[in-house]
Amino acid sequence: MENHRIPGLIEVIKVSDPEEIRALSLDPRVDRKFLAFRPLLNGLLLRKVLKALSFGGKRFPTMRPRGDADRAHDQDALWERLNERAATVRLGEEGLDRLAEWVKGQRADRELGILVQQTVGRLFVDSYIADAESWAAAMTLDAAPRPKGILTTISWRLTRKVSRAKALLAAKVNGDLAGVHGTGVALHNIVKGFREMQTLHGNISKRLATTAEAAATHCLIAPATILRQATSAGEIAGCPFHKNAIFVLELSEAHKHADSNDLVFLEQSWSRCPAERWVPALFEGVWRRASTVSQETVD
Ligand code: HEM
Repeated sequence: MENHRIPGLIEVIKVSDPEEIRALSLDPRVDRKFLAFRPLLNGLLLRKVLKALSFGGKRFPTMRPRGDADRAHDQDALWERLNERAATVRLGEEGLDRLAEWVKGQRADRELGILVQQTVGRLFVDSYIADAESWAAAMTLDAAPRPKGILTTISWRLTRKVSRAKALLAAKVNGDLAGVHGTGVALHNIVKGFREMQTLHGNISKRLATTAEAAATHCLIAPATILRQATSAGEIAGCPFHKNAIFVLELSEAHKHADSNDLVFLEQSWSRCPAERWVPALFEGVWRRASTVSQETVD
């Protein structure tokens, strides 16, 4: 754990150790209230991220505090709904054919983002159709909250581009902000996962030796970072911190350690991802579909 602090200017603590991330994700002194915009650079970073990950005056669920009762209720309801879908998607239903074809290299590279976005979008609206424009909106939204280039907050053109991207994505899921997060932000980790799957599937000996469950685990990609803010001063793992310090939890770095798959969806935390079972089930289903059809072709 590393505290980058210049009094009055910045206090950002980067955390990439799995045990420390687990402890912080449960620590009541560290939350997503994001109410304090000081010291100066902490404030600029938070304003940038909150502006990008809010729509219509409301924060995305991933930016809302632990104690927000509506957030917790919606998280549970989505978790239940996605788990029901996971049970069937895991089996490799016909609807996964186009993704399976992409994994087998039978579809253009550029189609992947659109295929994944449509699959996630259909969790929210049965008739969701993704296209090049909605995928471009997801790319815009993905880049918007990056901690780098804090000063881009003041670019009027970029602000308008991000607002238009969110409006487009929101309209497609009837304004459901979990849907905007899924089809605009979270899907990028699924896209990266399918790229891993294509490489694995392309190696025939590895393909034959890999079960659907193992393929799904192989394709799990954690978000690069998530944010928290200290609501009081304290110390954790020998690292003192002040009130309002920002914690950057480096999940993808931590996921390089052994036995860290729980960090991909932060499944032991109050903020666990509602898609923690559905995403691996999707990977399993597509792997099964791709492998079954490959087997038939071989026969
Ligand atoms: C590989 C894909 C995905 C990964 C790795 C992932 C990972 C995560 C992680 C680590 C969190 C916790 C964030 C935090 O603690 O601040 C989270 C939260 C969340 N995820 Fe995912 N996610 C994925 C896909 C999805 C999809 C497809 C959806 C929507 C269908 C989704 C919806 C959400 C929501 C709504 C939350 C906020 C939960 C809350 O705190 O109330 N995620 N996700």
